[in-house]
Amino acid sequence: MQYKRMPIEVESPEQLGYNTIECNLAESSVHDAVFKDLNLNLNDLILCYGDHLGKPELRELIASEYPGITSQDVLLTAGAASALFITATSLLSSKEHMIVVRPNYATNIETPRAIGCEIDFIDLDFSTEFQLDITKIQALIKPNTKYISITTPHNPTGTVIPEKTLKALVELAESGNCYLLVDETYRDLTPENQLPLAATLSSKVISVSSVSKAYGLPGIRIGWLITTNKQLQGLFLAAKEQIFLCNSVVDEEIAHLFLMKKDRFLPEIQQKLRKNREIVQNWMKSNPYMEWIEPSGGVVCFPRIKEEVKIDLEKFYSTLYHKHKTLVGPGHWFEMDKRYMRIGYGWPTAESLTRGLANISNALKETAG
Ligand SMILES: Cc1ncc(COP(=O)(O)O)c(C=O)c1O
Repeated sequence: MQYKRMPIEVESPEQLGYNTIECNLAESSVHDAVFKDLNLNLNDLILCYGDHLGKPELRELIASEYPGITSQDVLLTAGAASALFITATSLLSSKEHMIVVRPNYATNIETPRAIGCEIDFIDLDFSTEFQLDITKIQALIKPNTKYISITTPHNPTGTVIPEKTLKALVELAESGNCYLLVDETYRDLTPENQLPLAATLSSKVISVSSVSKAYGLPGIRIGWLITTNKQLQGLFLAAKEQIFLCNSVVDEEIAHLFLMKKDRFLPEIQQKLRKNREIVQNWMKSNPYMEWIEPSGGVVCFPRIKEEVKIDLEKFYSTLYHKHKTLVGPGHWFEMDKRYMRIGYGWPTAESLTRGLANISNALKETAG
């Protein structure tokens, strides 16, 4: 493995220091929950090794949401990040080939790269509204293609693929004898027109998610891999046992107690999202410097500074952070031009979001020629 730190992690708010940022528009989740607000009692918890697949009651609860999925199809992991790592390291080697959408959550690209496998990218384009072109993917499948990797709702663009595209991808994986990895970490943040859980569609599909983004619990590292393919699940379990054996039982307990009563928290989360989304929509309408493809799911969008705007991009980001104490996710976090920026609208309060967006406008005015 050729590990390399990723800019999105080196420059993340937690690494820069939350105290250096007043308006944090760089997060890709809803706001972090506070333990006491969850009103959980862990006093009787035994701090033993946990079940290697993950706490059975939590796996059952997760499985119960999806038709045809049983607790044996669910492997708990340390966040979605380790689910992606387990998938990549279990399936890929320098002899294998994979196809991945770009831009993407960096790990979906960087771990295959660290493994040294052959990678083909499916580059999403602003001009086609960041939509996936199935024919391009089809043309790239080879005998040694191990999997196709997509993210929906997508990070950083917030696009959601249509159900017919998901089904066509499943068919491609089946006919191409490869797997389809669907990173669905933002799935629960798309209440309208939700797609079926991808793993319910075929044993060739691996679904990945976690409690980090939709519920604001990234500090407990709980995610999961779902696949109905028993052989694959066995391979993933072997990988998990070698990497970290089992999850933290404390994390599993918190995730379980939380998910049992998640419906109490969801309406408030969704109401805040609707309001914050409107704030971004209104800001985009009145912003002469930028253009965007409106997101249809998740909590992030990926607008860009118009091509005709002359601007010193380094100066812009520096002014935005150092003078206006506002952080966004610059394009290079996603191997894209820095004219693009990811704005996370689910994490900040409405007031902080409004101020942060005004700071972006001010930094643009101050640095555009
Ligand atoms: C698409 C996507 N997948 C996976 C992750 C990893 O999340 P976690 O490991 O906290 O579950 C992220 C985090 O930003 C993400 O955006």
